[in-house]
Amino acid sequence: MKVYLDNAATTKVDPRVLKVMLPYFSVNYGNASSIHTMGQENFNVLTDCREKVAKILGADSRGIIFTSSATEANNYLIKGIARANRKKGDHVIISAIEHPCVRESARQLEKEGFRVSIVPVNYEGLVEISELEKLIDKKTVLVSVMMVNNEIGTIQNISELVKLAKKYGTYFHTDAVQAVPYLKIDIKELGVDALSLSAHKFGGPKGVGLAYLNPAVYAEPLIIGGGQEEGKRAGTYNLPGIVGMTSALEIAYKERSEYVKRVKKLRDRLWDGLKKNLPDIQVNGSIKERVPANLNVMFGYVEGEAILIDLSYKGIFVSTGSACSATNLKASSVLAAIGLSKHFLNSNIRFSLGKETTEKEIDYTIKMVTETVGRLREFSPVSKL
Ligand SMILES: Cc1ncc(COP(=O)(O)O)c(C=O)c1O
Repeated sequence: MKVYLDNAATTKVDPRVLKVMLPYFSVNYGNASSIHTMGQENFNVLTDCREKVAKILGADSRGIIFTSSATEANNYLIKGIARANRKKGDHVIISAIEHPCVRESARQLEKEGFRVSIVPVNYEGLVEISELEKLIDKKTVLVSVMMVNNEIGTIQNISELVKLAKKYGTYFHTDAVQAVPYLKIDIKELGVDALSLSAHKFGGPKGVGLAYLNPAVYAEPLIIGGGQEEGKRAGTYNLPGIVGMTSALEIAYKERSEYVKRVKKLRDRLWDGLKKNLPDIQVNGSIKERVPANLNVMFGYVEGEAILIDLSYKGIFVSTGSACSATNLKASSVLAAIGLSKHFLNSNIRFSLGKETTEKEIDYTIKMVTETVGRLREFSPVSKL
């Protein structure tokens, strides 16, 4: 049996999405910037995608900028907004649990002379407004706090944080990559100036993302060249990718409520089963303010990597957290930020369920995890202390 429980890392392209993308590779392949009709027809498709995406996200379509990834969108929005508004101030705030592409963008700004503050999170992974208030000042150009954390699934109260930022005239960016398809995103309602998304996290293709930037705000471009995206992001339009992302976003929101209900039930079944079978385990992060497909579990006395590898041989694919990837075996900074004791920092597994997850797969996973953890604990020197 093959069980894919790593949907927060990437998702399978929805076959309906693939179908609408295909003609743009080999039939309607004209460059959307070309003046001839093949180009102009595709420019109209591009405009149509921009409007559809903007409508779903409750945004002004002039603020939608298509990118190659959320990594690019985050780099562009964070560095671009800060650099373009240097006269306003030299201070940037990010949360302690941001994705590496946000953290590294902030670090780059620090090298350029910006002051960077890290707002801590509580044990559930939530940024408390009082903590942000301690750090923000009139020189704060930008605050960046992710909407949903990729490791522990914590959902932040973005609109509350935005209200505070507005009092100081500070721009607000949110990395919303892990929010789709779980949360409704209404950019106007949220009040954010900037937001990032990535198609491959919600049934779209890899290599395409989106940056939203309030049209009244200027950000220095990251990629310059042919003047596409009104000079905000150069490079030939990736029309198959953009068409695919638009279709995936439409499907995600059409099917959201039914999917959220189903996946939450399966996630709860997984947790109930593990809890029943295994002592000394706990959920990392908030139980309540959490996206329904995420379950991040600390298994006392065993290494997360050992569990992951053993499960992988059993056909179950999970993750130990994004900081701990195949090429980088550092303990998770997210779990450290929520205060997990250093003895438990390497004992965690992230299960991220998806559209195709079934009850049978969950039951198989409960059985295999129980077997794996039980066996590893038999060899663990600390489990017998
Ligand atoms: C929260 C978050 N931000 C940004 C990214 C980067 O997205 P992309 O794969 O499109 O570069 C990821 C992907 O893991 C993510 O989970």
